[in-house]
Amino acid sequence: MPRAVILRSNAEVAFSEMPFDPRSSFGPRVAAGYDDEPRGDEAAAVARLAELAGDGPALELAIGTGRIGLPLAASGVRVDGVELSAAMIERLRAKPGGDALSVTCGDMATVVLPDRYRLVYVVFNSLMNLVTQDAQVECVANAARHLTADGVLVVENVVPDPMYGLRQDRDGVDQYVDAGRIGPDGVTIEVGRYDRVSQRVDKCHLGFGASGVEAEPLALRYVWPSELDLMARLAGLRLHARWGGWSGEPFDARSTRHVSVYGG
Ligand SMILES: C[S@@+](CC[C@H](N)C(=O)[O-])C[C@H]1O[C@@H](n2cnc3c(N)ncnc32)[C@H](O)[C@@H]1O
Repeated sequence: MPRAVILRSNAEVAFSEMPFDPRSSFGPRVAAGYDDEPRGDEAAAVARLAELAGDGPALELAIGTGRIGLPLAASGVRVDGVELSAAMIERLRAKPGGDALSVTCGDMATVVLPDRYRLVYVVFNSLMNLVTQDAQVECVANAARHLTADGVLVVENVVPDPMYGLRQDRDGVDQYVDAGRIGPDGVTIEVGRYDRVSQRVDKCHLGFGASGVEAEPLALRYVWPSELDLMARLAGLRLHARWGGWSGEPFDARSTRHVSVYGG
């Protein structure tokens, strides 16, 4: 009897996707601690967005706790928001000025609002929380539909880096484990798996301490700047400007993120 030969096609080299729902990944615990460590470039981001918004109004997709939306509104621009996680909205509402913003609880890829905006923006990699290319394309088209004729769309994303220091496992899936905080009371680590085919990352921040293990799972889909430019073109928009950061840093081969401005 010949032995059975088991052939594995590329399709079977599988990346098993973690179930991902932003409502649970950005649930009450994450929302409560979300603003504990600001990134430090908030003032520069708000100044740049205020300049682009002009007389406004502005719409933030995935507004979160209002880290950017609230100071932008405080600068005099009317800011509306869209956010999927009720816990993040609740946190926004509890902050000074949070009650004054009109925030719609919904999916930024499909939400339909009655107004048109001089500025629509989606920052801090939030577009990447849509984990398929189709959903990202849909979101860019939806953002474009909400622009005034002279309006601009601003996207801030990391630049995917194929050299992440990942190692490929036997299933052809890249993965990493990174040490975070190491202290006498516990440690934090981040683990992740990256599928080059779908550009999807499943990751989890893990904290080990006296109270046990805390897990913060998150899924993302990397989107290349050039791929985003094509999504914008499908939506009838063209790249107007691209910087390596909010202060107008040049975008070059060493840039780890980009701030891109699209318009008609
Ligand atoms: C990294 S946080 C960024 C929040 C805020 N933009 C900031 O800069 O601090 C990503 C946010 O996107 C929200 N989100 C994820 N998927 C979404 C979707 N499909 N529609 C609306 N919001 C979404 C999450 O709930 C979370 O609040």
